[in-house]
Amino acid sequence: MPKQILITGGAGFIGSHLADELLRRGHRVRVLDALVSQVHGEDAVRPSYLDPEVELRVGDVLDPRAVADALEGVDAVYHFAAMVGVGQSMYRIADYTAVNNEGTAVLLEALARRPVGRLVVASSMSIYGEGLYRGASGPLVPGRLRPLDRLKARKWELADAEGRQLVPVATPETKQPELASVYALSKYDQERLCLIVGQAYGIPSVALRFFNVYGPRQALSNPYTGVLAIFASRLLNGLPPLVFEDGQQRRDFVNVADVARACALALEAPRAVGRVINIGSGRHLTINQVAERLATVLGRAHIGPEITQTHRAGDIRHCFADISLARELLGFSPKVDFDEGLAELAGWLEGRIAINRVEEAATELAERGLTV
Ligand SMILES: NC(=O)c1ccc[n+]([C@@H]2O[C@H](COP(=O)([O-])OP(=O)(O)OC[C@H]3O[C@@H](n4cnc5c(N)ncnc54)[C@H](O)[C@@H]3O)[C@@H](O)[C@H]2O)c1
Repeated sequence: MPKQILITGGAGFIGSHLADELLRRGHRVRVLDALVSQVHGEDAVRPSYLDPEVELRVGDVLDPRAVADALEGVDAVYHFAAMVGVGQSMYRIADYTAVNNEGTAVLLEALARRPVGRLVVASSMSIYGEGLYRGASGPLVPGRLRPLDRLKARKWELADAEGRQLVPVATPETKQPELASVYALSKYDQERLCLIVGQAYGIPSVALRFFNVYGPRQALSNPYTGVLAIFASRLLNGLPPLVFEDGQQRRDFVNVADVARACALALEAPRAVGRVINIGSGRHLTINQVAERLATVLGRAHIGPEITQTHRAGDIRHCFADISLARELLGFSPKVDFDEGLAELAGWLEGRIAINRVEEAATELAERGLTV
């Protein structure tokens, strides 16, 4: 049955791909998006990549009137509007808390008055802090944030009390959250708020914890978003990607097309209601591998990453997804191969002028004492 769907933040990277996926499935899509300048540039206009079929309402999730209006006639809501930079969240604390936490609260008050058939909220792997590990003697141990003295000594790997290195394993949803940044705290708050209020008002709600999403349309001008967009921006300017620590940290890169499909599946899946579900590729790569593969795809294989051997406040060592629950509850399986995904990203990047604000962002963090 075709539905009228609202995506908050739907003019952004993931939301616009989801809009395409939902339109393909025969739904009608409305977007509420403030077109914030950090993502869309100054004097932002409707992004050209947004399908003409999408009804765009330019408005703020903090504005109760705009939210209530956007909900008119809507059957289901995807809540994606957010500020999305981990590093930036550590000094724009009020802004992040306002948009992410309070924005969700405004939406939920409107939904309490006018419930919908499904609410899907974008959460994040960042809520885990460190991922899950296996100890030297065999048992699984939740990774803990690394002590500052080890980071200052550039001992990047996690170790047990005897100093033996822990081995990272895939992180399931049962791993206790360990909130290491204002951003992570706000994403946890968003998912809990949606599930709590959803249950109280009979709004079937699902929280999806996205891992590192990559693909076309990720804002290159925003130095606080995905690492691939940041690296691409540097490489296109002939500069080496700046890698924190030693570059051996592992992440799970999931293609935005796969994420959009997972989101679309969450619209109907009956057993997903009330659950939090990891959305990742189920594979992992080191940041150095990612930097090298991207440089190759962009025809800049001669530019190796610059290993900074510095730690950024709030950054974790390893985290990659166990996606068993997404397979079971959503029937989700990732389809896009990483190298194919990178090639598509490169095609999109071709001819694009990347504004290199990454250095500026790194300086901003350093000036605030947020790197060691
Ligand atoms: N990109 C990732 O790797 C990733 C990983 C985990 C979770 N997420 C989550 O997925 C969601 C989408 O992220 P994205 O990567 O597409 O980011 P994005 O920045 O491309 O999109 C976010 C959109 O929200 C809009 N927005 C921001 N503040 C707003 C406000 N106050 N009112 C209305 N609109 C507002 C922006 O204009 C933008 O279009 C976010 O909730 C993010 O936290 C993303």
